[in-house]
Amino acid sequence: MRNFDETTITPAVIDRFAKTPNPRLKEIMTSLVTHLHAFARDTRLSFGEWSLAVDFLTRTGRTCTDARQEFVLLSDTLGLSMLVDAIDNPGAPGVTDSTVLGPFYVTNPPDLPIGADVSEGFSGEPLFVEGAVSAADGRRISGAVVDTWHSDNDGFYDVQLPNLSSAALRGRFHTDANGRFYFWSIMPRYYPIPDDGPVGDMLKATRRHPFRPAHVHFLITAPGHETLVTHVFASDSPYLDSDAVFGVKDTLISEFTHEPAGTAPDGKRMAGPWRKLSFDFGLKEKRTKST
Ligand code: BEZ
Ligand code: FE
Repeated sequence: MRNFDETTITPAVIDRFAKTPNPRLKEIMTSLVTHLHAFARDTRLSFGEWSLAVDFLTRTGRTCTDARQEFVLLSDTLGLSMLVDAIDNPGAPGVTDSTVLGPFYVTNPPDLPIGADVSEGFSGEPLFVEGAVSAADGRRISGAVVDTWHSDNDGFYDVQLPNLSSAALRGRFHTDANGRFYFWSIMPRYYPIPDDGPVGDMLKATRRHPFRPAHVHFLITAPGHETLVTHVFASDSPYLDSDAVFGVKDTLISEFTHEPAGTAPDGKRMAGPWRKLSFDFGLKEKRTKST
């Protein structure tokens, strides 16, 4: 076939994928071509605009390094990451909702004893974080691995601070015999996502702000259970209703309570006021399907 026009090109391209042996790949390529062509037709896309898009995607690729994933940031800011999360991680009773991982997770954070302070050398309002990890049926999980990380008082993660040589405001804890963990840190602040690249250009051109509300990240693993990737958002933070990456869910918003000077739950004497986050997590049993 030749001489394709606006109506004949789409079925012709789809037909070219007819012999794809993997049925899922065939389904995805067919749907991709269908929707991509429909998008071009709907918007009456010009060649100049197509060319701008190619340039944008090229710059997005060139911005990626071992430490920066601009395509994931693009997916996050277009709401695609949270759409895939909604499709792949539907809520279940007793299971904590998930949200985006974000670019500031580092594998193998410092392994710390329960009760450690991850904020050595940082100033800010002291924060006591405590929680339990359970299976969906409520049974506590001992030995669950709890990775946590968050921004500092100014909204920066340790990996964004040029003069910092070791990990801070992050750590790995193991739940005790009762499935519990706790640690000390400082209150995180809301912050802008990295907006000095093509994704930032897109946000500026569309008059969107780059901010995320204040939160503490958690990545929790336990044998026989699905990995939980989530955050807990501070209920008094700005941007809860306009998160740049659409990651906020009501179930993940918690009060970081204001506590007076005195004795903290771990017996620590606090000379001044401090904040407390208490949040329990539920893990889903591992899926048996392979993909
Ligand atoms: C974060 O919460 O660390 C984050 C998530 C998505 C994009 C940028 C940052
Ligand atoms: Fe974050």
